[in-house]
Amino acid sequence: MRLQGKVAIVTGGGHGIGRQYCLSFVREGAKVGVAEVDARAAQRVADEIKSGGGEAIAVPTDVASEASTKEMARRAVEAFGRIDVLVNNAAIFATIPISRVGIEELSIEEWDRVMVVNVKGVFLCCRAVLPQMKRQGKGKIINIASGTIYHGGGGRIHYVASKAAVVGFTRTLAREVGDYNITVNAISPGSTLSEENPTPEIIKMREEATGSSCIKRVQTPQDLQGAMVFLASDESDFITGQTLVVDGGSAMP
Ligand SMILES: NC(=O)c1ccc[n+]([C@@H]2O[C@H](COP(=O)([O-])OP(=O)(O)OC[C@H]3O[C@@H](n4cnc5c(N)ncnc54)[C@H](O)[C@@H]3O)[C@@H](O)[C@H]2O)c1
Repeated sequence: MRLQGKVAIVTGGGHGIGRQYCLSFVREGAKVGVAEVDARAAQRVADEIKSGGGEAIAVPTDVASEASTKEMARRAVEAFGRIDVLVNNAAIFATIPISRVGIEELSIEEWDRVMVVNVKGVFLCCRAVLPQMKRQGKGKIINIASGTIYHGGGGRIHYVASKAAVVGFTRTLAREVGDYNITVNAISPGSTLSEENPTPEIIKMREEATGSSCIKRVQTPQDLQGAMVFLASDESDFITGQTLVVDGGSAMP
């Protein structure tokens, strides 16, 4: 129960790895706001948590909208009285897919959309929760980057650029809010089998990614929960501005 009494918001918590973060937090005693653009998925995860005896609310949220992110923070405080942890996990990635094309084929609209959700979304969600965290005199923000920023990702230049931006954002915000006892860190997951119904092609792609790892098995969402709970817990109170790579030893930045 390393998160007993804490309140966490997980953006993109309705699917994939975000769902796993929600379940891991509840297992450690936290109450969770499942903030998700797919309202039905958010409700499914909240119901799953409640049926297991945990506390959660579904918060339909578009991280790209300032009004929606403010409402997300308001709903969490209304339901649970505080916000201790924000996980900026929502992204255009798998559930809302990104193209795998070269720079010249990539549409400008898709470049812009990826930046708006994956980068501006992190900015807006942080702004939405910071007033509450400052009032509390403590907070934990955990942003999700990607191992692709170290390797370079094949044909997804917008996605990789957006995730590299998250690391610079993490370092800068950490310096801005240290005086308020708020830590800001990032996790860089490796290629993770997060899809609910993976096709044989996806499984093959994830298996191939193990070629560059020290631990040669496919990464799953469960592999990320230890690092996530640690960064959300009091155990990491003196760690900020850092990016923790969780990928079985593939990238060694
Ligand atoms: N799976 C991997 O291999 C991998 C590797 C490195 C990093 N990541 C990162 O981990 C995170 C989770 O990835 P995943 O594999 O579970 O993918 P995913 O696409 O299933 O998860 C992203 C979630 O964000 C939600 N979302 C999308 N746009 C949103 C918006 N505007 N507002 C709110 N929610 C929105 C989606 O509905 C989805 O639930 C993402 O940030 C992804 O970039 C994944």
